[in-house]
Amino acid sequence: MLDAMEANRSEKAFDREKIHSGNIGLEVDHGAVEIEVERLLASMTLQQKVHEIRGWQAAPIDGLYYAGGDEGLNIPAFRMVDGPRGARAGMATAFPVAIARGATFDVELERRVGLAAGLEVAAKNGNVILAPTINLLRHPGWGRAQETYSEDTFHMGAMGVSFVSGAQNHVLTSPKHFALNNLEMTRFEVSANVDERSLHEVYLPHFKRCVVEGAAASVMSAYNKVNGVYCGEHPVLLSDILREDWGFKGFVESDWFLGTRSTVAAINAGMDIEMPTGYRFDDEKITQAITDGELTEETITRNAGRALYQKVAFDLANREVPDESVVECREHIELAREVAEKSFVLLKNESVLPLTTTQSIAVVGDLADVANLGDRGSSMVTSSAVTTPLAGLRAFGNEVDLHYYASDADISNIGEFDVAVVVAGLTYKEEGEFIPTQQQESDGSDLARGGDRADLRLPESQERLIREVALTANKTIVLLEGGSAIEVSSWVNEVDALMMVWYPGREGGHAIARVLFGAVSPSGKLPVSFPQSIRQLMDWDMSALDINHDLFHGYRYLDKKAEQPEYPFGFGLSYTEFTLEGLQVERVENRFFLNVSVRNTGDTAGGAVPQLYVSYRNSVVERPVKELKGFGRVELEPGEVADLEIELGDAELCYYDPLDGWVLEACTYELRVGQASDDLPFESTWRFDGEDWLPE
Ligand code: GLC
Repeated sequence: MLDAMEANRSEKAFDREKIHSGNIGLEVDHGAVEIEVERLLASMTLQQKVHEIRGWQAAPIDGLYYAGGDEGLNIPAFRMVDGPRGARAGMATAFPVAIARGATFDVELERRVGLAAGLEVAAKNGNVILAPTINLLRHPGWGRAQETYSEDTFHMGAMGVSFVSGAQNHVLTSPKHFALNNLEMTRFEVSANVDERSLHEVYLPHFKRCVVEGAAASVMSAYNKVNGVYCGEHPVLLSDILREDWGFKGFVESDWFLGTRSTVAAINAGMDIEMPTGYRFDDEKITQAITDGELTEETITRNAGRALYQKVAFDLANREVPDESVVECREHIELAREVAEKSFVLLKNESVLPLTTTQSIAVVGDLADVANLGDRGSSMVTSSAVTTPLAGLRAFGNEVDLHYYASDADISNIGEFDVAVVVAGLTYKEEGEFIPTQQQESDGSDLARGGDRADLRLPESQERLIREVALTANKTIVLLEGGSAIEVSSWVNEVDALMMVWYPGREGGHAIARVLFGAVSPSGKLPVSFPQSIRQLMDWDMSALDINHDLFHGYRYLDKKAEQPEYPFGFGLSYTEFTLEGLQVERVENRFFLNVSVRNTGDTAGGAVPQLYVSYRNSVVERPVKELKGFGRVELEPGEVADLEIELGDAELCYYDPLDGWVLEACTYELRVGQASDDLPFESTWRFDGEDWLPE
């Protein structure tokens, strides 16, 4: 036990220097790059420039999608690899899905995941990782929710830019899908309709942070439309906002196949590379369009120049390919386990966790004995070994008295065990990227390929299994696997403990064992609100071809409707207790610095996640009840105290006005700090009069 006062230290919630170190995109000599790009372009024929703005072929080559390149000119091709969960090329480290990493609220950890995933892509001769996915989890029924970090814009931006800066130590990144790709089943046709304020305040800031603060080398445009115009040919998104407003120097590549809907409109709007191959950007169509005066060679040169710019900026022609021994190396495997451990969200614990190895344990459910890594769409990663929950529990200690029951087993004697651990949840069949396939399961059944979820409950058979176990077991612990919110209200009162483990990656089983047996305390926080019922949320029509997006979804929507979720955004229990002991707030120039003192008042080590939300009083525009504007994570030994510094720039407090742009409003701001969105005991109120800030 450390002396309470001796271990006081101060940490930054977001240490820019640490997070962005080594990001090649931030170290570019733009003057020199511009000269080299001009030189290259001047030496290229129209044909060679057109070759730069399209992929080579529909199918990947060893997992790599090629685009552009010219050996004679020493211009390397882009070699693009998915994705957000690790390298989708051969065997690679399957990290926990992004929503799990979002639950860690640990930006430095996410930087490390970016570093590792980027390194493995580079070792496979890739030079672009098609990640991170940063589309907002607008509704938990979205099939690709697992692939993104959060329902919240600020949290998404912090996690996404951390991945970008880590990965761009080794390869180019491509935050995706730009923009408002928030529904899966109709993604090729749906129009996400959005007013300008909601677009700029809610749906774009995290992309902007990746592009401006993280110097993301590219952006992948989305399949869907925004306000009726396909993203792949959207002049406002691809030129006005991305380039005029944000100064983006990277390139835009389309999403695959239907991500490009035209030749002329797409190229003129600012689509720089058609992927995976040149259906629309083929020689004949481009030549004809130039002949017809619809396209100019200057525009082709502009778009090709953007691709070349990043090839030169990252010096792709001279980059060494790391040794393949880095793939699934011990360090990455241990990182995958650490991430999984820190991602688990303990939602309920009535004095049953942690377990001891002297207890007898019944492990129940088919999911305990399968590798459940997430969907089998483009973010899928295959690892050489995956530890299932059952294998992890068995490996934890051979003295553990453990018995496994499949889902259809007779559990009549389950009361003979001290505890029952039920592993339930979803798989790639119930949610994920919807890639129709003719593949059949081994039993001949159709291989359901994910998609959106019509409701948020578990399959009925699993709810029944949980209830049956809870009826006779001494203590019942439920571990939930899945990539988004799951409705638990119909059975959660019958069980003693509940933990969300997401799709925990190749080391998930070991992480589950270490957390269940208390080798490490759970510390995850929900990056998505868990509603009591889907009926608490906005309408959800998976067949919709028009969807209105506004300022409110997730906790912002629930707050507006005064609806209580089952478990709120930012919530998560621990095996220890943390107390926030004080809040100091000062203004320096155009920003606030908040110092939060947090103490571990329990008897085990753990990770605390102080969170800052802002509420507004007397605003002339509609504002959310509160919105997340800062968070950090501190690991604390029992008794230890740490000060967390959260920086809050005035820009974060502005609202967007279609006529005046960003407005820092003269009104009252409540800076509220706590350990979950519904637990904000500390507050510092400030009035801005248009000139000065005055504490109230
Ligand atoms: C897919 C996905 C995109 C992925 C691409 C290449 O359709 O939408 O995220 O990077 O195709 O696999």
